[in-house]
Amino acid sequence: MNPPRHPDRRRRRFELGVAPPSDDLRRLLAHTSWAANRTEADIAARIQCTPLFVVARDGATTIGFGRALTDGTYRALLDDIVVAEDRRGRGIGAAIVESLLRELADVEEVVLNTEESLRGFYERLGFRPFTGLTMVRRNSTPTVSI
Ligand SMILES: CC(C)(COP(=O)(O)OP(=O)(O)OC[C@H]1O[C@@H](n2cnc3c(N)ncnc32)[C@H](O)[C@@H]1OP(=O)(O)O)[C@@H](O)C(=O)NCCC(=O)NCCS
Repeated sequence: MNPPRHPDRRRRRFELGVAPPSDDLRRLLAHTSWAANRTEADIAARIQCTPLFVVARDGATTIGFGRALTDGTYRALLDDIVVAEDRRGRGIGAAIVESLLRELADVEEVVLNTEESLRGFYERLGFRPFTGLTMVRRNSTPTVSI
């Protein structure tokens, strides 16, 4: 069953390219299956190398994040899409992805890795399962792979 929508959106803001405090981002990522072990220093360094990211805030509180790695023309990879657990089901995740997609509108293909339970979430945003073979060479192991 889908989570319920909540009407109060007054204080919510979505900002492109304004880095969130890395401790806020570490707290958000700590509840993911793939980035739970990232340190604040890692996170701050990777943000510096990321061409496109969006931060959702409620007042001063960081409540969501998403980023894209891209060459700006042919390929983009969405990564680290996350919403604070107590803010999910209010349209924030979709708004984060939509913000990134608007910026990537001229890029030929936008890809992401996800799990079956989020198929519906991403299909609503225009993604379709890829029918080819995706191959990965892991040089290190994430906390839990998805
Ligand atoms: C995935 C995630 C970012 C979604 O954020 P969210 O703010 O809860 O999502 P939204 O409220 O914007 O959902 C948009 C729509 O998708 C639906 N949806 C959300 N999660 C869903 C799920 N797991 N399965 C099916 N539909 C889902 C919502 O009900 C909503 O539908 P509606 O428009 O009919 O109300 C959030 O659940 C999260 O942070 N999960 C943990 C990290 C993660 O797995 N990130 C994705 C990595 S690829």
